[in-house]
Amino acid sequence: MADLQNDLAKILITREQLETRIRELGDAISRDYAGKDLLLICVLKGGTLFLSDLIRAIHIPHAIDFMAISSYGGTRTESSGVVRIVMDLNANIANRNVLIVEDIIDTGHTLTYITELLKTRNPTSIKICTLLNKPSRREVDVPLDYIGFDIPNEFVVGYGLDYNEIYRNLPYIGVLKMELYAHPNT
Ligand code: IMP
Ligand code: MG
Repeated sequence: MADLQNDLAKILITREQLETRIRELGDAISRDYAGKDLLLICVLKGGTLFLSDLIRAIHIPHAIDFMAISSYGGTRTESSGVVRIVMDLNANIANRNVLIVEDIIDTGHTLTYITELLKTRNPTSIKICTLLNKPSRREVDVPLDYIGFDIPNEFVVGYGLDYNEIYRNLPYIGVLKMELYAHPNT
């Protein structure tokens, strides 16, 4: 872990801050969906650590399911907005209350694509819960229902978020040193 930590410019959100905020989100979701059929949909892979802690903070019955997508083009730090489903849901979401669980909303393209697609399957409701939000980077407006933290425009890793598939195991959110990903064309 010490090795990975050397690649960080700083720690942005500590373990304790994550824990506290996720407990609050779990309480809010439990309150809002009490007595309703709730299905959490986790977008692989970045959202997995958040999902596993979030469901332990939710104290009402609910189910979980997963989908995997991949973005075409772009670079390793910029999403292109062109998305392809790599693995679809197992569950039929018709007439269910769907809550999408995401790691981070940046430009908003990925989530817009996912919500538009899921809406065609006739869920009762569809809401979004994201751990991190970068409002300054938004290109398409996406209504966010639950937000863990608004963060500045910096490339972050840890707690599920990766750079080039590495750093997901860090137990906090850190800012990656710029020299590790800066490239001339962005
Ligand atoms: P969007 O389509 O621009 O909103 O991109 C969202 C996706 O880009 C996220 O699900 C992440 O996979 C990735 N992403 C955006 N910003 C970051 C970051 O700071 N660190 C790691 N991944 C990021
Ligand atoms: Mg992601």
